[in-house]
Amino acid sequence: MIDMDRVKTGIEGLDEMLEGGLPRSHAVAVLGSFGTGKTTFALQYIQQGLKEGEKGIFISLEEDQESVIANARSFGWELQPYIEQKKLSIVKLEPTDAKTTITRVKSELPEFIKSFGATRIVIDSVSLLNLLFDADHEKRSNLFALIQMIKRTGATCIMTAEVNDDNPNSSRDGLVEYASDGVIALRYEESKEKAEVQLTVRVMKMRRTTHSRRVKPYTISNKGIQVHAAAEAF
Ligand SMILES: Nc1ncnc2c1ncn2[C@@H]1O[C@H](COP(=O)(O)OP(=O)(O)OP(=O)(O)O)[C@@H](O)[C@H]1O
Ligand SMILES: [Mg+2]
Repeated sequence: MIDMDRVKTGIEGLDEMLEGGLPRSHAVAVLGSFGTGKTTFALQYIQQGLKEGEKGIFISLEEDQESVIANARSFGWELQPYIEQKKLSIVKLEPTDAKTTITRVKSELPEFIKSFGATRIVIDSVSLLNLLFDADHEKRSNLFALIQMIKRTGATCIMTAEVNDDNPNSSRDGLVEYASDGVIALRYEESKEKAEVQLTVRVMKMRRTTHSRRVKPYTISNKGIQVHAAAEAF
């Protein structure tokens, strides 16, 4: 096996499942239904990078900067100093203003990633970004182009994606799982025995590396996401 340079997600247990972390300059989709912890995952990934002295860009189509900061603070991650030191940029894109947003993504983002020197990028969520395009072929070509553009900068990217209501293994538009280098799925499992909903994670795809295919339980606490790698989900 080729020894690949790894980028730690900072999520305990998950990095073990990935043989140390995400392969550097991969674009990885984090799929999940509402409330499964996609945004938390993305924040934890950015926070880990900041802790390691890397720069990050958090592109949000849902929450504005203040809300992203407050969200991170609820896990004890203080982002404000990193923003002031130009180590972190939170970019809010308007999913309703298609024309402006498409222009910003296509013409400003590549230059911005390079000049900012970011090695970690988050897009939360790529499902909302895809809504900017009407036709399926446009969604597809723009998503592939965006991923290629980010990869060319050498940055490692996490894209959160909403799932299709009928299939928790597939994203809403069914595109990002093919376009990305890796897919990590977050899921609810209804337990018949216990009156409790369990959260589970699985690595469904990770190009150019071996990885665990086991289904592992995870929890979300005020310290973020923790994957219980030693436990079995079923
Ligand atoms: N500070 C916190 N401490 C403990 N648990 C939290 C905290 N913040 C969030 N959670 C848990 O994480 C869940 C949601 O996390 P998150 O917002 O990351 O999900 P999401 O997948 O991004 O949801 P959506 O699809 O709605 O954007 C909450 O419903 C809650 O159970
Ligand atoms: Mg979210």
